[in-house]
Amino acid sequence: MSNRMWGGRFASGPAEIMEEINASIGFDKRLAPQDIRGSLAHVAMLGKAGILPSADVATIEDGLKAVREEIEGGGFVFKRELEDIHMSVESRLTEIVGTAAGRLHTARSRNDQVATDMKLWVRDTLDSLDAQAADLQQALAEKALQHAATVMPGFTHLQSAQPVTFGHHCLAYVEMLARDRGRFRDARARLNECPLGAAALAGTSFPIDRHATAEALGFDRPTANSLDSVADRDFALEALAAASICAVHLSRFAEELVVWTSAQFNFVKLSDGYTTGSSIMPQKRNPDAAELVRAKSGRVIGALTGLLIVMKGLPLAYSKDMQEDKEGTFDALQALSLCLAAMTGMVRDLEPNADVLARAAGSGYATATDLADWLVRELGLPFREAHHVTGRLVGAASAKGIGLEELSLLEMQEAEPRITDTVYAVLGVENSVSSRTSYGGTAPDNVRTQATRWLALLKAP
Ligand code: ARG
Repeated sequence: MSNRMWGGRFASGPAEIMEEINASIGFDKRLAPQDIRGSLAHVAMLGKAGILPSADVATIEDGLKAVREEIEGGGFVFKRELEDIHMSVESRLTEIVGTAAGRLHTARSRNDQVATDMKLWVRDTLDSLDAQAADLQQALAEKALQHAATVMPGFTHLQSAQPVTFGHHCLAYVEMLARDRGRFRDARARLNECPLGAAALAGTSFPIDRHATAEALGFDRPTANSLDSVADRDFALEALAAASICAVHLSRFAEELVVWTSAQFNFVKLSDGYTTGSSIMPQKRNPDAAELVRAKSGRVIGALTGLLIVMKGLPLAYSKDMQEDKEGTFDALQALSLCLAAMTGMVRDLEPNADVLARAAGSGYATATDLADWLVRELGLPFREAHHVTGRLVGAASAKGIGLEELSLLEMQEAEPRITDTVYAVLGVENSVSSRTSYGGTAPDNVRTQATRWLALLKAP
């Protein structure tokens, strides 16, 4: 049998494999709520514009609501031969209300319909990702306040660099998430133009009111060019790009958690809720959730590159290639949502091992810069020379296998005779971090101020 919706000029139906490759119902059925919302807005507008008699409008509206109930109740049977969500809804509508259903598709096409549905879905999803990212910021800012003065090693090249505080490290991710949220919002604002009524590609000769449907669906305005309306998947790309950057942030943090929870580092403890055991090695507490957050970033980035590649060669306007926007977008944004939730849980339960962190913060000559700064401040050495003197002292300490603070004053004076014993005060990690009071620096007071500022911002609506 040829297709009921478009089979007029076909003598026979599609090949089995054609049906399989063509059908999107397996994954676009999740767009049912958006599809029905779009149809309700469209038919109401057709009525108001005098394109459909009000009796038909009422019949179609009741029918659409009945279809929605069936889908929500789980009683709806999705059939592959109906290809996609648009034809599935319309076909069932026809079964329920009869011939009036055939008037719903006046002045629209599946091309503008699917663009509208996808935009509505991406828009809702961006909103919920934004809220989830705010939850993670909140958990991080709370940890930061709690551990504003908990010292830990700061790294560059994963080599001990200078001591920082655990709170400061947490707030670094709060900043990243703030930019992520900004990108979600930017993407949302840019996508918020309604493609409905662009029809197949050229617009329509019916006197439709696109401003009315745009408004009814919560868009700022209708899209201004019908070709662009149905050919555009920027909104999905942009959401995926923003999601990819966010996923990369989460992945970096996840990597740190994996390293930090190893026996060799032992910087933090994850809760039982976010670790797993080994079936053979009883001592193990594996950071699986962190590992999966790290891994799932690959799926998000994969979806972005996948869709970029789908789109890059497409002439205007719609091509069926664009149906491939869905699985990757759904999967990636859902994966990110799960990662945000898992990270929030991990952070809430996370306990830094303050003793281990303090010890590690002092090792690896992490206060060498403080010594160099002391030479500049107290003796007036140019920084380059101070750097050199300090380097010699680090060399001497490391040759003896001891810390800088364990060098005797005499040993210090061999490198620079004017050094006095007040130098020992800056060699402690606590002193080091409290001295970093420049704006954005790691001093505990700074961290407290920033954490408090964030907590207030996050509480504000
Ligand atoms: N299922 C299609 C998609 O997801 C809907 C649009 C189909 N339009 C068409 N002219 N075949 O892109």
